[in-house]
Amino acid sequence: MTDQGYAKPIRIFHSIFALCMLAQLAVGHLMDVPEVEGKHEASTSLITAAIAHESHAPVTLSASGAVEESLGFEVHEFLGLTIAGLVLIRLLMAMTSWPGAGWRELFPWLFAEGRSRLIQEFKAQASGWLSLKLAPPEEGETIARTVHGLMILASVVMGISGTRLFFGWSTTAPQTASIEAIAEIHETVVFGLQILIAVHILAVVLHQMQGHNILARIKPNK
Ligand code: HEM
Repeated sequence: MTDQGYAKPIRIFHSIFALCMLAQLAVGHLMDVPEVEGKHEASTSLITAAIAHESHAPVTLSASGAVEESLGFEVHEFLGLTIAGLVLIRLLMAMTSWPGAGWRELFPWLFAEGRSRLIQEFKAQASGWLSLKLAPPEEGETIARTVHGLMILASVVMGISGTRLFFGWSTTAPQTASIEAIAEIHETVVFGLQILIAVHILAVVLHQMQGHNILARIKPNK
């Protein structure tokens, strides 16, 4: 796989996916979330404020009495459904024999042989990480592939929980306990995903600085 890099569809997928994901994380932090606080219906005068992630912005009610969705929230919903669709496409790609696409590459820890490769690589490479030195892909890429797989896995959970929230989020009444719990899961997974993405981008920068030119393996225009 090192020679071939990734199959063309994976390369194209990566560009679109990374762009949507980075935009989604930015929008998710900046948007105002339309929500009714307290026990009262939005249509009553007792509604407090729409939750604007930490900033309590003034609430606008629509003619039907629902809290109006901010543009940011609508973009978040649109991007979220797009990402859910993209993740589904990536999972379908994992069923092909395209270079770099399969389950064994994304989730090596599910297979005995993958787990022993992971242990070997960890023993051989972990000491270098302290001095920010990464091994080139030809010396083993099971750990990197595991991080990629975990990003996809986190995106699956984010996509499923986000889609459930899309259909269950209320702008006219406080959220039910189950929707609150799903929102909690959604935010926790997003937090984990951000850490994985930060590690991923740091690893790409370090590989490039150490002359491994891994960007050439994923560039869509090759
Ligand atoms: C500036 C942003 C990014 C850059 C420069 C970048 C770069 C790369 C590179 C060079 C690879 C190939 C690694 C290898 O040689 O094996 C790769 C793979 C991958 N990246 Fe990124 N990446 C970025 C953002 C993201 C984001 C935001 C995500 C998603 C959460 C992501 C998910 C993946 C996945 C899943 C793979 C493996 C390809 C696959 O199996 O679908 N990347 N990335």
